[in-house]
Amino acid sequence: MVQNFDTRAVHLSNKEKKSFTSKVTPIYQTSAFKFTDLDDMEDFFNGKNDYLYTRVGNPNPDELGEAVAQLEGAPHGVATSSGLSAILAGILSVAKHGDHIVASKDIYGGTYELLANELPDFGIDVIFVDFTSQKEILDVIKSTTTLIYSESVTNPLLRVEDLSALVEIAKDHNLYTMIDNTFATPYFCRPFEKGADLVVHSATKYIGGHSDVTAGVLVGGEELIAKAKSKVVNLGSNLSPFEAWLACRGLKTLSVRMDRHANNAQALANALKENEAVQKVYYPENVSAKGNGAIVTIDITGKCNVADFFKSLDWIKIVPTLAGVETSVSYPLSTSHRAVPEASRKELGITEGLIRISVGIEDAADIIAAFEHALKESVLS
Ligand SMILES: Cc1ncc(COP(=O)(O)O)c(C=O)c1O
Repeated sequence: MVQNFDTRAVHLSNKEKKSFTSKVTPIYQTSAFKFTDLDDMEDFFNGKNDYLYTRVGNPNPDELGEAVAQLEGAPHGVATSSGLSAILAGILSVAKHGDHIVASKDIYGGTYELLANELPDFGIDVIFVDFTSQKEILDVIKSTTTLIYSESVTNPLLRVEDLSALVEIAKDHNLYTMIDNTFATPYFCRPFEKGADLVVHSATKYIGGHSDVTAGVLVGGEELIAKAKSKVVNLGSNLSPFEAWLACRGLKTLSVRMDRHANNAQALANALKENEAVQKVYYPENVSAKGNGAIVTIDITGKCNVADFFKSLDWIKIVPTLAGVETSVSYPLSTSHRAVPEASRKELGITEGLIRISVGIEDAADIIAAFEHALKESVLS
């Protein structure tokens, strides 16, 4: 059929392509997939066609979910629009109206907000307890409890969770365990292999690795991930193809980055432990034989002027996040843990002098020199 200019302008660029053998997965930047006829479309619902509509599924987020699942040693995974949406999808796959969750007190502030402020509106009750005490956990488990929730390495105080003990408690009481593995990454720790039912990531952090993606991934067994996928579809918390593609690109260098991050973090922690201007250094020792992660948290309360410290950081970026290749610092009190009640913050040790350092992949000596300079400039005489 002969077409006029306007019609040709719209349709010329969407010609059917033969399949090219592109070295990397192309970005399927499309909101929907087309069908040859109604039978072909019906085949999607019969499981014979993979894709229909991007909110329901798309090759790029699927690739990310499956890749992270494999690295975690889990059979299935689903990628979502953010770490928090992955946490929500995971929780809703194991808890419904009337159920109860036991969560660690020592978790990321945004997760605390989701659990404390939003889940009650879904009819899900959450209690936060000190996970260093098994007795505290056991004391609050009740007949409606379905889930135990924690982080493998906690944000921002870097406590390493005893995953085997948590899983044992959960199994004894017929509960699910869900672990946020964002800080440790599957390179250093694999909670699914230790018996956790669901493992979640803010892929915004080390999986993406370059501070240019907001994404989440949830991994686990077939039944739970199938449930979580339907939550993601129905809540509309799917990950966009481009973000998924970027996160997959980041994932390729995860181990290389984590080795450098961890070596630099260890060197910085060692140097700061020797520095009299630092009251306390938090850096875990027992995350893995390969290294202990890339976050060093310091407390300079009473030793330095906090505002002066931040002003003297020279090339170190001040950001409310972590995990990029550049070293950065954040201030949990006014950002990530702002919503945590003051009494809980005090109890946990989130003080006015607490600074979370996300150690980058630059030269270790330059990183150490920058922090030593900021401490010297801000030290109280
Ligand atoms: C440990 C941890 N879990 C989850 C999240 C939430 O991730 P997102 O910001 O991608 O939703 C964060 C964000 O900082 C985090 O640090």
